[in-house]
Amino acid sequence: MKPILEGPVGPTVRIDGQDYDYYCGGGYLGLYDHPHMIAAACEATERYGFRLSGPSSLAVHPPVTDLIREASIFFGTETASYNPSGYDGAGMLASALKDVCDVIFLDAESHFSVMEGATLAGKPIHFFAHCNAGDLAQQLRDHLRPHERPLLMTDGMFPITGEIPPLPAYVEALNAYDGALLCVDDAHAAGVLGKTGRGSLEHFGLEGPGRYQCATLSKAFGAYGGLIPCSEELLGLMRKNSMVFRGSACPSPGLAAACAKSLQLVREQPHLRESLANNTRYLRERLHAAGLAIDPAHPSPIIALDKQNKLDLKATQERLYRERHICTTYYAAYANTPQGGAMRIAVFANHTREQLDRLVEAVVS
Ligand SMILES: Cc1ncc(COP(=O)(O)O)c(C=O)c1O
Repeated sequence: MKPILEGPVGPTVRIDGQDYDYYCGGGYLGLYDHPHMIAAACEATERYGFRLSGPSSLAVHPPVTDLIREASIFFGTETASYNPSGYDGAGMLASALKDVCDVIFLDAESHFSVMEGATLAGKPIHFFAHCNAGDLAQQLRDHLRPHERPLLMTDGMFPITGEIPPLPAYVEALNAYDGALLCVDDAHAAGVLGKTGRGSLEHFGLEGPGRYQCATLSKAFGAYGGLIPCSEELLGLMRKNSMVFRGSACPSPGLAAACAKSLQLVREQPHLRESLANNTRYLRERLHAAGLAIDPAHPSPIIALDKQNKLDLKATQERLYRERHICTTYYAAYANTPQGGAMRIAVFANHTREQLDRLVEAVVS
């Protein structure tokens, strides 16, 4: 029988009556059981029930309106769109942008959401080598005819390795083409990267016209569902072209209230992101000092031990779980898993130094 998770997911989890240090998933800011989010969800559920059904043209739904307002403030955009899962975001953007692009270029190791989402535009798709701006430039030269507008789609932070793509170099390559568009799936970067946590575009100072992002509330924000920060114009294109946009229900009131509260918390409490950055730096430096092939200065809270480390990664992950009560994840084949597999460690803002020290000691022992 599979072990049973007996409480919320955080830096420590309870499984079958025992505590485990937890480094899986994407709860980077430690918000999955934040009391203010839980209170907001309960209050909205008591007031509005589980489901706000009916046309939004008839009356506004306050929890949903609050969510869209908080998302727009957080991302500094005119408006935003909530979608049932972050998985749908890339597809909604591709659908919306099909009127203003001709050919799509994809990082060859993009997440499934990007790969599958790109097809919704119904345009030719070409792949460029993972995180390789030189190959992107080559693919653009090889596949674009005069006056064709490229749409580049990529993850803003890759889920298994934590790599951040070289977006400035991509933009330089795209600048040779009028009307070129860039779209990032910031599922793992939103709430984490950038001066105010807006994600990979903010991290590189690349926000602006022709740059699009989708995010999820189910990782750093500790809630659930996807977000597309956008202009009224993009919202109009989604309304026109995206069947997910047109055909999905709005979130339940409790979820919408928890999402809105989470966006507010992350905006008003920058110490959450500072603690995450400090823990990321600390763990990366400690793993590096212990002789592991980890970039000590990389800002990503996703740390992947790969085959360079000459460890049996699967056996190490299993040993940590069994003997040390430490949960990490081993991936053999998921989205951008490197050849030879990866042991993925996700750092949270509220892991303690004792936990991080225990992890390093357990990995190298
Ligand atoms: C890059 C990327 N996009 C989208 C998703 C899906 O987001 P959600 O958790 O909101 O379904 C994931 C999930 O892991 C992801 O890694």
